[in-house]
Amino acid sequence: MRRRVASHIEGVPAGGETESAATYVPERPTLPRLRKAAAGCRGCHLWERGTQTVFGEGARDAGVMLVGEQPGDQEDLAGKPFVGPAGRILDQALEEAGIDRRHAYVTNVVKHFKWQPRGKRRIHQKPSWSEMVACQPWLEAELEVVEPDVVVCLGATAAQALIGRDFRVSRQRGELVDSPLARYVLATVHPSSILRQRDDASREAEYAAFVEDLRVVPPLLNGRSP
Ligand code: URA
Repeated sequence: MRRRVASHIEGVPAGGETESAATYVPERPTLPRLRKAAAGCRGCHLWERGTQTVFGEGARDAGVMLVGEQPGDQEDLAGKPFVGPAGRILDQALEEAGIDRRHAYVTNVVKHFKWQPRGKRRIHQKPSWSEMVACQPWLEAELEVVEPDVVVCLGATAAQALIGRDFRVSRQRGELVDSPLARYVLATVHPSSILRQRDDASREAEYAAFVEDLRVVPPLLNGRSP
């Protein structure tokens, strides 16, 4: 039985065809099968813009799943989640919080990079609600296979897609919330928001708060390796 990723992500606008990855998801999913199938996903139009599908990555038996918004420029080129500047912040913070990324599973709500050109640069564009809905079957399948004890939403887009549209990271970060996704679910800021702080002092304060939020995770892991 496929687990539902939260009803919040179901609010597809009425009228017209809705796009979905559902028909691409294999019946008996394993991570290798999912990755292979996702590589050919045409469940929404975003595949036309991205270089490739950036599927989640990590341990099959990970105790914690970290979910970002969508791959960025470098992730799109590398085909791996969180390997660019935000990924470097994430790696450092995970280490300081006592979480080994090799024992975690890292993924995104949307598996293709959405961008628009500005000169020679590819500028990130936030995915729309219907794009997140279309991509949802992949995240559901990842949750079904990995069955993490803890899900951490990184940033407002992931939190609102997975926990609820009313969720406010600014007010509720680091709090455990009731959710069908996993035994423990929480949200914190997106690591790229740390990079966007105006000065060193704010960057340091935001980074320290991010690490504090992540420190909640290891004691929840039920004996699994953090
Ligand atoms: N931002 C995200 O949300 N995900 C990535 O993989 C990289 C940057």
